[in-house]
Amino acid sequence: MTNLLTKESLKKSYNPEQWKQGYQSQPNEYDYWIDDIEGKIPPQLQGTLFRNGPGLLDVYGTPIKHPFDGDGMICAMSFLPNGKVHFRNRFVRSEGYVQEQKAQKMLYRGVFGTQKPGGWLNNIFDLKMKNIANTNVIYWGGKLLALWEAAEPHRLDPKTLETLGLDYLNGTLEPGGSIAAHPWVDPHCEMDNNQPCLVNFSIKPGLSSKITVYEFSPQGELLRRHSHSVPGFSFIHDFAITPHYCIFLQNPVTFNPLPYILGFQGAGECVNFQRQKPSRLIIIPRKPPYDEVKILETNTGFVFHHANAFEVGNYIYLDSICYDALPQVQPDVDYKEVDFEKLAPGQLWRFTINLEDDTVQRQMLESRCCEFPTLNPEKVGENHRYLYIGATHDTTGNNPLQAILKLDLETGERQLHSFAPAGYVSEPIFVPNSNPSQEDDGWLLVMVYDGNHHRSDVVIVDAKDLNQTPVAKVHLKHHIPYGLHGSWTGETFIN
Ligand code: CO
Repeated sequence: MTNLLTKESLKKSYNPEQWKQGYQSQPNEYDYWIDDIEGKIPPQLQGTLFRNGPGLLDVYGTPIKHPFDGDGMICAMSFLPNGKVHFRNRFVRSEGYVQEQKAQKMLYRGVFGTQKPGGWLNNIFDLKMKNIANTNVIYWGGKLLALWEAAEPHRLDPKTLETLGLDYLNGTLEPGGSIAAHPWVDPHCEMDNNQPCLVNFSIKPGLSSKITVYEFSPQGELLRRHSHSVPGFSFIHDFAITPHYCIFLQNPVTFNPLPYILGFQGAGECVNFQRQKPSRLIIIPRKPPYDEVKILETNTGFVFHHANAFEVGNYIYLDSICYDALPQVQPDVDYKEVDFEKLAPGQLWRFTINLEDDTVQRQMLESRCCEFPTLNPEKVGENHRYLYIGATHDTTGNNPLQAILKLDLETGERQLHSFAPAGYVSEPIFVPNSNPSQEDDGWLLVMVYDGNHHRSDVVIVDAKDLNQTPVAKVHLKHHIPYGLHGSWTGETFIN
């Protein structure tokens, strides 16, 4: 009996060889109407789903060391009023991508450890960086922008996905500047007569770090900008907003750039997690004069992503995915050979920040390994009832994300829509119904890699009930490598 149980618990929810196939490069660029659709696209679902992620996991046969180093490839799925769906994907023609495609070889090191062939001698003191434009894609102010946190956005034609060049956000950024890949849309900004505004930030790390907050109008014009210097090196990928605050979590890390400068490691591999040190919550007011910044210490482990934040009286609540330690692949291990059992799972925690006595409490909301949280965009900065998160099939341990988890924070109910054993999910995107009656009245759009057919599907699930079979499965003719982030716009750009 004991043996049987052990054997059962060791059984994986997936086939590792199949999982690795999802990391195959997709060098082709497609443009076609999708004819293979299971189920029916809801007639109210009209608009465009944009996704970004690494499209190349090798440069002319030289494998990259970490998927975060792969060149950004944008996918656009257009849902038209007549029920038709169009697919297009195209690489961002970043300067580095164009040069490498022309040279037919790797010319750049990657931030996350990719080294040019030829050993350290060929990499030493080579600190030129490729803007790989691979993390997120947003449509804002009439512009489609591919975002990567260490450099300028690239602007693309939303109709053709053709790269138009670097974009400085209507004069907001200087050449060589950067902006994060994690903007939030405040759906009803108090400072702008309840009009939506887009809030984003940039970080200049160093011995102290400069955080700059930007807020943009729906036309893409800069409304507010303010900078703050905070002590210590910062590795901050994401943040959260409420109507009155931006909340940043400064992970407890140090940075020793020597192995990077000497050509042994990528800059990302020189970040060292300090398990025994506290994290800092940095709370910056969104309203002028912006000067009552609070820095509070707490224990969080490592955080990439926040799900949402909101205010109740003198309290701020912050929901975040926390790892006990920075989930790092060892420098000598191929990311495709990573031992998931050695990685801490991402778990959802709620931080309760008391602005009166400056204390922070935390409480685990979900222990199942999860990542890429999302919610109804109307609830950004507000007290949300539901979260939707990519999750593992199994309740414990770290594994590839194969399911979508819905949390009802009012009743505690969980719903899990699993694509195991052959399906691997990406970040879900919530699209509200046209006349929503409830917070969960809408659909979840999720790109799923189907390991059995080596292709990807866009799956549409009714967000009200994840236990139902999907409303529709849109089968692509090919695979899309595991992606990072994306967004939805109600606009369509093709006829
Ligand atoms: Co992210």
